Amino acid sequence: MQRYGFFLYFQTFLHFFLYFCAVTLNKEPMNSDSRATFKSKIGIIMAAVGSAVGLGNIWRFPYEAGQNGGGAFLLVYLICVFVLGIPTLLAEMTLGRMAKTNSVRAFRRVTKHPIFERIGYLGVLSCLLILGFYTVVAGWTFQYMWESVSGGIMGLTTEQFTQSFVDFSTSPFQPIFWTVLMLVITHLIIIGGVQKGIERASKLMMPLLFVLLVVLCVNSLMLDGARDGLTFLFKPDFKAIDSSVILSAMGQAFFSLSLGAGVMITYASYFEEDINMPRTATTVALLDTSVALLAGVMIFPAVFTFGIEPTQGPNLVFITLPNIFAQLPLGGVWSFIFFLLLALASITSLISLHQVVTAYVEEEFKMSNRKAALVVTCLAAVLAVFASLSLGVMNDVRIGGMCLFDLLDYVTAKIMMPLGSLLLCVFMGWRLEKATLISELTNRHTLRWNMIKAFVIILKYIVPILVTMVFVNELGLFN
Ligand code: TRP
Repeated sequence: MQRYGFFLYFQTFLHFFLYFCAVTLNKEPMNSDSRATFKSKIGIIMAAVGSAVGLGNIWRFPYEAGQNGGGAFLLVYLICVFVLGIPTLLAEMTLGRMAKTNSVRAFRRVTKHPIFERIGYLGVLSCLLILGFYTVVAGWTFQYMWESVSGGIMGLTTEQFTQSFVDFSTSPFQPIFWTVLMLVITHLIIIGGVQKGIERASKLMMPLLFVLLVVLCVNSLMLDGARDGLTFLFKPDFKAIDSSVILSAMGQAFFSLSLGAGVMITYASYFEEDINMPRTATTVALLDTSVALLAGVMIFPAVFTFGIEPTQGPNLVFITLPNIFAQLPLGGVWSFIFFLLLALASITSLISLHQVVTAYVEEEFKMSNRKAALVVTCLAAVLAVFASLSLGVMNDVRIGGMCLFDLLDYVTAKIMMPLGSLLLCVFMGWRLEKATLISELTNRHTLRWNMIKAFVIILKYIVPILVTMVFVNELGLFN
């Protein structure tokens, strides 16, 4: 039975693979504008999805869900994606395509207001800080690829898997080696140019990752703990919803969709004028959310089967996955492919983070692309090295009770990105003329979109009020 199941997966996998190869090879013609534009519509969506889908979905979502009560978290998360996420995503895209420049200058190009023209700086800083811990986790995927081929991942007990991850992640050398390698790869792609690098990578790898996740979900659903895992993930305990669950879910929604940091402003600056932005934003959000859900369905049944604590935190996925692969036939092969694709998904996200900071440095300080990228890579490397060390030898150094790694994660996802999104929505809703906004959204009145009124209300009122309420609530001012 086990054997047969395996071949069935493999066959499905192969079909999807061939299908996506066919789609990928079928390229549309190049555009010859002076500012580079994305070659094809599917390329645009894939690059945006490539930025959104990454460790946020597969590493961060399950661990946040695990720490915040599972179903309760998921419910609030989904509400945040639809009520806050999609509108903010669309607002970023609109601004980016209008301004056609880096995310700092974009605001200035549309307004001369002394505060609003500075919103962009917040985003650039967020991206740099995220680079600081994201590359560390992305580096871990390399270690697991290595262990998959060297056999280190097989045949251990749950405790041994956990111990080996802790030993690895707290050691001063190995993780830093992988982290730096990850940064070098990102750097090389960035200096290779917008089109070639980003597009080619995301178009092929994203679909593959999606398919593999589906396969692994099917496998998890056949585990003994499937029922408990699904109950945990999908059955909300309303009593568990408190201010910290809400803040975490909101932060996760912004993080996962790459919002409030100027990524989509930068990407949309490469969009062509006939892109249907409402549809693109919705597609990106739906794909991103499906990947997070798949990751949850893959992880939680295994968590309950192998007796792992769902509240593990950042370790959760890295100690659960080896257990999953260890019980599969040819586990090492599955494990290798999975971590390879996860590494690539992280790279497409890293590219977007790096690109925001690089585009800013390049255009504001009049540097060449190569020089700007080098500056950003070096800054990120310094942050990342300390973030990695902060999990091990420098764990005693605490700021606000957190080590540097946790601090970078907390400050960006739970403060800077919601704040950046709030300011962006206020800006787009209140500073930009409504006629301009509507004309942009409808591609100069050539598109019909019957949600415009709702969208404007969400931008002007709902996002600012909700985000402010979550902040105020978290500060404890309501009690
Ligand atoms: N959204 C990505 C993920 O889920 C991470 C990411 C890429 C990101 N670019 C970003 C997060 C910009 C915040 C801002 O893995």
